[in-house]
Amino acid sequence: MQQRTINSLSVKLYGDKKNPPIIFVHGFPFDHRMWINQLENLQNEFYCVAYDVRGLGDSYIGDGQYTMEAFVHDLFSIINELHLKNVTVCGLSMGGYIALRAVEMNQDKIKALILLDTKSEADDNLGKLKRAGAVDIINLHGLNQFVDQTVPSLFAEETLKDNQELVDRILGQCYDQDSHGVKGSVLAMVSRTDTTSFLASIKIPTLVMAGSFDTLTPPAMMRKMSEKIPNSEFAIVPRGGHMAPLENPDFVNDMIRGFLKKI
Ligand code: MLT
Repeated sequence: MQQRTINSLSVKLYGDKKNPPIIFVHGFPFDHRMWINQLENLQNEFYCVAYDVRGLGDSYIGDGQYTMEAFVHDLFSIINELHLKNVTVCGLSMGGYIALRAVEMNQDKIKALILLDTKSEADDNLGKLKRAGAVDIINLHGLNQFVDQTVPSLFAEETLKDNQELVDRILGQCYDQDSHGVKGSVLAMVSRTDTTSFLASIKIPTLVMAGSFDTLTPPAMMRKMSEKIPNSEFAIVPRGGHMAPLENPDFVNDMIRGFLKKI
């Protein structure tokens, strides 16, 4: 693994740059480590790039004021700086919001899209109020309380019961985040646009995957999104919640490998 800093973002590079590139965009409030199973498993066949979104992990925190547009420009800055040609963008949840807007902005730069546990809709009024509540909890009670109240529910029941080590590891990674960066990411998500009307204009091959027990972006919702994308395929990740790539990595890795081999 190699480490680079690009545009104040912490970027990890796995594998040989001669191989087809995949750039992984993580969800909230995580960092590149949520892709560890994909990076380690796929690095022999693909050039795997994973970075920490601004404000999270080891990337620049600054004043904690970010927008979705800035997140998307950050993604393109890495693609450009690393000269990634024919790159596949793989995003989970917030990473999917970033990926979808990036494709809307310039799909000529992207060869294929992989969307996991995400949606195209922007926050509705209830969603905005929940974001305001999240910022309040962090301000009043601290980041750990916010993490304890939100992150466990992202896992499937079975994961919570049978894989406490994984849940504890991911909770630990979330506690390590900077609270300014986390609040900044919350507000950046509020600033995102709705990409639903663009889905029909996506020309690149797209793989959409939903954890079978994901309650935040359930399979039925993701199937509908997939049906709006002309050249897309849809899969349900068995035993997965919202954190499907961590909960059932073998299935997700096989799907990514199979999809990218045939396009
Ligand atoms: C994520 O996993 O990135 C978040 O759940 C997305 C969100 O809060 O909208």
